[in-house]
Amino acid sequence: MTPEPVRHAILVLYYSRSGHTAQLARLIARGVEEAGLEARLRQVPPVAPVTETAQPPVPDEGAPYVSRADLAECAGLAMGSPTRFGNMAAPLKHFLDSTGAEWASGTLAGKPAAVFTSTSTMHGGQESTLLTMALPLLHHGMLLLGIPFTEPALTATGSGGTPYGASHVAGAKGDNAISEHERELARALGRRLADAARKLAAPA
Ligand SMILES: Cc1cc2nc3c(=O)[nH]c(=O)nc-3n(C[C@H](O)[C@H](O)[C@H](O)COP(=O)(O)O)c2cc1C
Repeated sequence: MTPEPVRHAILVLYYSRSGHTAQLARLIARGVEEAGLEARLRQVPPVAPVTETAQPPVPDEGAPYVSRADLAECAGLAMGSPTRFGNMAAPLKHFLDSTGAEWASGTLAGKPAAVFTSTSTMHGGQESTLLTMALPLLHHGMLLLGIPFTEPALTATGSGGTPYGASHVAGAKGDNAISEHERELARALGRRLADAARKLAAPA
C-alpha cells in the first residue's frame, strides 16, 4: 500500500474586504511558522449578485485564491471571515457550499481546524460568527481547536481574542490597530494549530 504523503502546510483561508481579517490571517500564519510548519495563505473569491461572474484567476491584492488541491494537501485549516450580521460573510459560505465532494470523500476529516473573525463592534457577533463558522468544519470531520485560558492575553484583552478563536475589533470606522493582545492570541492560535497537526501526523 502506498503511504499517505506527509502534509506540512497549514491552510490559512480567509475572506476580507477591508483588510482586517487578512491581517489576522497573516498573524496566524506567523504563529504556524513559529511552530515550524509552513503556512499556506489563501483567500476565497468575492461573490457577485449574478453569481458566476468571472474573476481574474489571480486577485489584485492579498493571497492567491484557494483551490481544491489546497484542501487536499493541508495538514490543518485556519478559516476566517469578517462578521456579517453575526455570521460569516457570503463569499466564505459560498465556497464552503462548494465543498460537497471534499465532504463526501473525507478530505478534511481528522485534520485540526481553528476559526477567526473581525467585527466593527465589541458585542456585534464575534462569538456567534466563530461558533457558526465551526459548524461546517465539524460536518467535514475536522477537530476544532480554540484558545485556552492558559494564554494570559485571553484574560487581559480589552478588545478581541476569544476562547472560540482569534478576533479583532476594528472599530466603527475600521481604524483600530490590532492590539497587542489580539496579536498575541492570533499567533498563539497558529502555533497551537501547527502543534496539533504535527502530533496528529506523528506515527503512533
Ligand atoms: C453587510 C455588513 C454586515 C456587517 N455586520 C456586522 C455585525 O453584525 N457586527 C459587527 O460588529 N460588524 C459588522 N460589520 C462590520 C465588519 O464585520 C467589520 O468592518 C470587519 O472588521 C471587516 O473585516 P475586513 O476588513 O476583513 O473586511 C458588517 C459589515 C458589513 C458590510
